Amino acid sequence: MHFPRMPIEAESPEQLGYERLRFNLTESSVRDRTLGELGLDLNALTLCYTDHLGAPELRALIAARAGGGLVADDILVTAGASAALFIVALTLLDKADHMIVERPNYATNIETPKALGCDIDYVDLDFDKGFALDVDDIARRLRPTTRLISLTTPHNPTGVSMTADHLAGAVTLCERSGARLLIDETYRDMSFGVPLPVAATLSERAISVCSLSKSYGIPGIRIGWIACRDKDLMNRFLCAKEQIGICGSVVDEAIAAHALRGADDWFTGNGTRLAGAFGVVEHWIAGEGALEWVRPDGGGVCFPRIRADARVDVAAFYRALNDDHGAWVGPGHWFEQPDRYFRIGYGWPTPEELAGGLAAISAAMKSARR
Ligand SMILES: Cc1ncc(COP(=O)(O)O)c(C=O)c1O
Repeated sequence: MHFPRMPIEAESPEQLGYERLRFNLTESSVRDRTLGELGLDLNALTLCYTDHLGAPELRALIAARAGGGLVADDILVTAGASAALFIVALTLLDKADHMIVERPNYATNIETPKALGCDIDYVDLDFDKGFALDVDDIARRLRPTTRLISLTTPHNPTGVSMTADHLAGAVTLCERSGARLLIDETYRDMSFGVPLPVAATLSERAISVCSLSKSYGIPGIRIGWIACRDKDLMNRFLCAKEQIGICGSVVDEAIAAHALRGADDWFTGNGTRLAGAFGVVEHWIAGEGALEWVRPDGGGVCFPRIRADARVDVAAFYRALNDDHGAWVGPGHWFEQPDRYFRIGYGWPTPEELAGGLAAISAAMKSARR
């Protein structure tokens, strides 16, 4: 099996070196927190193996936040949402299988199925259609060999969410076919309004994936999970997890449980910070004639594009942005899109960094005019 290096990882700020980035608008999360901020004493923690599913209390906390009647046994803790996605693809897909996935997308949702060699159909999200999901398009692509329909909401990189009707439509498709529905809900806690229900609560054929990385600002503990009510399938996921790493890290799981216990307090301040930063981006875009966007409704990112008639030399834009201004965004090629599209992460930078980064984008586009 061949796993090519994904540009989103090879060019990530942690690989470039955070110190090189004066204005870091590449992140899709909120600001990272320190262990000290969490006020947790781990000295009494025994560094043993833990429950292979994940510590029961942690799973109960995850299930309770998900709601919809999920219980601890419907949760399998994984090393981030990325490992959850890997386990789901590895367990469900073989060379002879067919799957349907949204594009653009967080790279793992596409690259792992590709590496497994299965047959992939893409549902392309179109800027000019508001990046809206077309469930009829998915229905047309279904085959007897379709094992998986893979969708992400709130979506990365567009920040656009599925509607409740889209979700219900996708669930119905899976219940009527041999396919499973995977919903990557990594940004669910960053929905602007009331989040959609956790997909796993709607059907035994639905699999939800989520993590604490983005909305809790703690990606350095690698805690994500799979939620699913199909017991046999969950057992197969557990077998894959055990082959990869037996169980999770007790340290990470203890920190995760603590963060979840304090979730309500955390989200009060966090929501206000995110909304403020979003307002800054919205105001800036409205006055930036060289750009157009689809206004997002969730997550901490947006995916604008340089107008075709703006006469900006795209390569010169990135050179000026990175080299002259020390500002960085997520270029389109991270998501198999042209580089005139780019992702702006507004939830991570400080207000000063965000203002500096947006001004740098405007200045770099101006200097790159043909
Ligand atoms: C949609 C989506 N899913 C999954 C992940 C993986 O996140 P983690 O493994 O840190 O939980 C990311 C990270 O950017 C993402 O954007």
